[in-house]
Amino acid sequence: MVNITYSGQKQDVFSSEKVSNLQTIHENLYKKQGAGSNFLGWLDWPSELSEEFMTNLKDTAEQIQKQADVLIVIGIGGSYLGAKAVIEALKPHFEKNPNFEVLFAGQHVSGAYLKQLMEYIDGREVALNVISKSGTTTEPAIAFRFLQRYMEDRYGEEASDRIYVTTDEHKGALLNLAKEKGYQRFVVPDDVGGRYSVFTAVGLLPIAAAGYNLNELIRGAKQAEEELSTFDIENNSAIQYAAIRHDLYEQGFTNEVLATFEPKLSYVQEWWKQLYGESEGKEHKGIFPVSVTYTTDLHSLGQYIQDGKRDLLESFLIVEEVDEDIELFEAEQNADGLNYLAGTSLHDFNLVAYKGTSNAHLSGGVPQIGIHLPKVDEYHIGYLLYFYMIACAYSAYLLEINPFNQPGVEEYKTNIFKLLKKPGYEAE
Ligand code: PA5
Repeated sequence: MVNITYSGQKQDVFSSEKVSNLQTIHENLYKKQGAGSNFLGWLDWPSELSEEFMTNLKDTAEQIQKQADVLIVIGIGGSYLGAKAVIEALKPHFEKNPNFEVLFAGQHVSGAYLKQLMEYIDGREVALNVISKSGTTTEPAIAFRFLQRYMEDRYGEEASDRIYVTTDEHKGALLNLAKEKGYQRFVVPDDVGGRYSVFTAVGLLPIAAAGYNLNELIRGAKQAEEELSTFDIENNSAIQYAAIRHDLYEQGFTNEVLATFEPKLSYVQEWWKQLYGESEGKEHKGIFPVSVTYTTDLHSLGQYIQDGKRDLLESFLIVEEVDEDIELFEAEQNADGLNYLAGTSLHDFNLVAYKGTSNAHLSGGVPQIGIHLPKVDEYHIGYLLYFYMIACAYSAYLLEINPFNQPGVEEYKTNIFKLLKKPGYEAE
């Protein structure tokens, strides 16, 4: 479903030694025996999803659509990027007076953003979905403090019928608050980390509320789960992607530039950066994930990619077919000199631009991985996200890294708490 192509430095990806290492990783993954294996709940999640779970989510999404014009999703990192990635990929670029909108908060700390958000939603019916696995993350907690007060001022007791909480089943400040106020609750499973949680209620509730087809999204994820679970190097695109990028890493290509010509995928790129950066970047190892959107960035970072320091590998996320397109037409005057493009659609242009860019960067010494996605719809996005998650697990295990923890994100938090004199941190 997702096809991988490669051109660049000669590779020795599938020597018998490497295949045997990959096979061990594969076996450990499916026997749930590798590092962090108590966080492998996402591995068979799509096929394990119950009818009852899906119905509950869809019913709640319908209820939200009935009671509100705007759903504000409050979360950060894995608690917002999955939903944001899917919604941005599927929604139209422009929508006049949308009936229903999903907006995000708590993904950063900006007073101007929160103030303007509260002004923007005034006069519209609002619901909130607060998402935090730990239930203690500062940025969403700050946003929720403001928005909860906004809701209570505006709706009084009815506010609690409009606030939905997705958090741990047993612990955390958010869980306690949700219980106290009687908010409807959804669970982030114990064995699924934030960046692997897009197919749980974390991602699915906002995606369903936004009006997208959960069955198709999960059908794609399920298909990926099935196809990518076999140790068949010739056909398993996730193992191919992981093995190629690891081989390049060992040759000194320590930065991966994920490039796409489809602007709707820019939050899939953000989600991918979090997934790979947080899963692999440990113990002074890992490929640094960056992203570019072409052709926009050919007019900025393109220079560096073509000609800068040679430690980059480039992976192109290529959409093969688009639903909507326009063709260049013959102009009488041809003042802009574009008549040679008459009859070429903009998607055709991009496919040619891909070939041209890929060849140029290849001759500039940048190895190229092509990730070919047939089209952008729920089914294929579901497939793609699962593909990236499983490939990420292989990638991290190839580096002998636990893909599922994030010890490095704690240090900055502790420093901020000390500086702000959070109770318990004053002495430090
Ligand atoms: O992938 C992860 O685990 C993190 O990025 C978390 O999703 C992020 O830090 C938010 O955490 P929480 O959901 O506990 O608020």
